Amino acid sequence: MGGTNGYAVETEGLVKVFGTNRAVDGVDLRVPAGTVYGLLGPNGAGKTTAVKMLATLLRPDAGRARVFGHDVVAEADTVRGRVSLTGQYASVDEDLTGTENLVLLARLLGHGRPAARDRAAQLLGAFGLADAADRQVKNYSGGMRRRIDIAASILNTPDLLFLDEPTTGLDPRSRNQVWDIVRAVVAQGTTVLLTTQYLDEADQLASRIAVIDHGKVIAEGTKGELKASVGSGSVHVRLRDAEQRAEAERLLTTALNAAVQLDPDPVALTATVNGHGTDLGAAEQAARALAELARAGITVDNFALGQPSLDEVFLALTDRKGPAA
Ligand SMILES: Nc1ncnc2c1ncn2[C@@H]1O[C@H](COP(=O)(O)OP(=O)(O)O)[C@@H](O)[C@H]1O
Ligand SMILES: [Mg+2]
Repeated sequence: MGGTNGYAVETEGLVKVFGTNRAVDGVDLRVPAGTVYGLLGPNGAGKTTAVKMLATLLRPDAGRARVFGHDVVAEADTVRGRVSLTGQYASVDEDLTGTENLVLLARLLGHGRPAARDRAAQLLGAFGLADAADRQVKNYSGGMRRRIDIAASILNTPDLLFLDEPTTGLDPRSRNQVWDIVRAVVAQGTTVLLTTQYLDEADQLASRIAVIDHGKVIAEGTKGELKASVGSGSVHVRLRDAEQRAEAERLLTTALNAAVQLDPDPVALTATVNGHGTDLGAAEQAARALAELARAGITVDNFALGQPSLDEVFLALTDRKGPAA
């Protein structure tokens, strides 16, 4: 097969079955080269299984996958030469120091000793691990451990890096450090396929996101497209007169077809714009609801439409899918 069409990854109907469990159940993906692509889903969704097939560690049971145009089964060696995987099976040795690990791995990759030492020092510095360079990895914090895992996987800059839940279990500060590293890796031209259970992580890092659940992609697109397809957001309304709140609540409930919350502030209400039962965008739906209030003589002092979070997007998508889907 020829070109890559600008895609780092293309899959068609990719399947992996464990016994009767269809862990990956017909996945179609297209990951544009040079971007961060987010594979977002809960525990057990099939993220790691999908990544392992793309990294040639597991053989697909059906469908096909290409990495930079190379088939992951027929051209597994070529694929292996262009990818790197950071995740549950990190290759670092707990008993070695940071420097020893990176030098050893760089030597295995064919670097001479001086070059290996240079690359190790460079990466440890770049990843904020210079002070920990001579400590055994088993004494690293969780965040330091993730960072050296990533450092180990980019000793030779890969064209495609799989990051399998790189920040699961990390505190916010360590997550931010890992995010900065991911951004730096992409800036060097590497494509990143990131799996995550964190909606804000996909939102922060990824250009496009596939939401995966029970082995199936249930939504795919840019962040904006995903949000638009769900059409949800939060409307915050402040009235001039608290006595009009009951009527405002009634009107908004009807206009938005959604539950309205009464805030502790006696003039304030919050409603979710869920887009269900309408083709309107969130902003348009909210505008119509406000017009209803005005028609009823209810004065609105302040109004805000919040961007839906990816949390809301995911809940809406999994809710809507239902058991029969
Ligand atoms: N080696 C395996 N043998 C049997 N079942 C597996 C194996 N690996 C994963 N699974 C099952 O496949 C499903 C998807 O797992 P996984 O890909 O690890 O999900 P995720 O990475 O999204 O948490 C789960 O139901 C899991 O229990
Ligand atoms: Mg996993």
